[in-house]
Amino acid sequence: MSSLFHKDKPRYFRSVKPVYNESLPKVYIETYGCQMNSSDSEVVASIMQANGYSITENLNEADIILINTCSIRDNAEVRIWGRLENLHIEKKKRPSLLVGVIGCMAERLKEKLIERDNFVDLVVGPDAYRELPQLVRAAEGGQKGINVLLSREETYAEISPIRLDKNGVSAFVSIMRGCNNMCSYCVVPYTRGAERSRDPHTIVREVEELFANGYREVTLLGQNVNSYGWENKEESVNFAELLEMVARVNPSLRVRYSTSNPKDISDEVLYTMAMYENICNSIHLPVQSGSTRMLELMNRGYSREYYMSRIESIRNILPDCSITTDIIAGFCSETEEDHQQTLSLMEWLKCDYAFMYKYSERPNTKAARHYKDDVPETVKSQRLAEIISLQGKISLASKKKDIGKSFEVLVEGVSKRSTEFLYGRTSQNNVVVFPKENLKIGDYVYVEITGCTSSTLIANVVAE
Ligand code: SAH
Ligand code: SF4
Ligand code: F3S
Repeated sequence: MSSLFHKDKPRYFRSVKPVYNESLPKVYIETYGCQMNSSDSEVVASIMQANGYSITENLNEADIILINTCSIRDNAEVRIWGRLENLHIEKKKRPSLLVGVIGCMAERLKEKLIERDNFVDLVVGPDAYRELPQLVRAAEGGQKGINVLLSREETYAEISPIRLDKNGVSAFVSIMRGCNNMCSYCVVPYTRGAERSRDPHTIVREVEELFANGYREVTLLGQNVNSYGWENKEESVNFAELLEMVARVNPSLRVRYSTSNPKDISDEVLYTMAMYENICNSIHLPVQSGSTRMLELMNRGYSREYYMSRIESIRNILPDCSITTDIIAGFCSETEEDHQQTLSLMEWLKCDYAFMYKYSERPNTKAARHYKDDVPETVKSQRLAEIISLQGKISLASKKKDIGKSFEVLVEGVSKRSTEFLYGRTSQNNVVVFPKENLKIGDYVYVEITGCTSSTLIANVVAE
């Protein structure tokens, strides 16, 4: 066992829920950005709790506020600057309050965040969270705490995250960090550093612990999970093998993962998914554009045709698998013809859901250095509107196709509209709302779909 722990790094107590202790200084964590950030906030909570701080959900009683930030698009950063302005007012009212910026914006902007007087007390990048307690102590003593060093090894492998989710049923499990892909538009390789994979045995242990604590779904997280690879002298584990190890923890545990890169998703992964019923039939496979010329400029490493061939493999091997995607409108030099190719690919793909964005130039990326952000804002908006409208129709049609079918659903919570209804998701990751009956959160239930909106399926319970 002990060989799994780095000798020079501290071990933390295992704990799934936050422990509240009135007498300890209180940390409030606010999270922006992707699932990776949500997962990191749980690691941060664990580190702080193990070092004499208590985690609070109430900002007003916090002694330390940590804002876990995102830099993916300009509007993400604008929103966070706005939030920091609000907290600046709060700091004036409560001079002892410490505000820290952690995550991707901390890494991207570094000292810039700390330059303004009495604005931010701490700036800590995604690979320096083990240093947070020391940096907070320095800040408590009136110094500015900053560490934005990126690491080639840090995976926080042995830290048991404190679950900050609300439902106690689904958890994120980080399996790798960083990204080596260098898509030309993307800031992530700069904010999160080089790709590194986490020891699979620590992943399996974390998943076992979650299952023992009542969790029934895990989502394995990485920027490009299909390039997961870990080895030591005795063994090597790729993503398909890791998926199998996690699926075998318990057949009643659902396993999902995100994100796959089309250039790396292998048939081995698809066959592993087909072999295990508890690996969910849902793949997020961001295409970004339907034009091969754009994909080349984006440095995505695949063509339109290659993407389509991967989709065909998925449909052959996993006929019931849902597919979701990401699309960027108005990347550098995108013509109307390129845009039409995106629309035609969407028509062909008919994916269940898409995240759709306007291209936002990020400083220092390859695109910012070498290409002109030359699609006018109005054209970007127009193209994005066309993409959103088309996807809306496709999503609704795909939901309608489910009417009359039966699905197994994992109950995740009480419906926002009515306490008489619960919601959960199908293996395909579609949200379903159904009558409460005698069900409780964490149960599996069979439902029959009776209706839908473009985002939700409505159902009756057929068997508990
Ligand atoms: N690692 C994942 C996703 C990372 S970011 C992947 O490769 O698929 C999530 C999504 O944000 C990307 O898929 C992309 O669609 C979008 N995105 C990233 N950088 C962007 C930028 N500069 N402007 C607009 N959208 C961007
Ligand atoms: Fe960014 Fe590309 Fe890495 Fe995804 S794969 S995080 S889009 S560089
Ligand atoms: Fe944002 Fe960083 Fe995630 S830039 S999308 S929080 S990896």
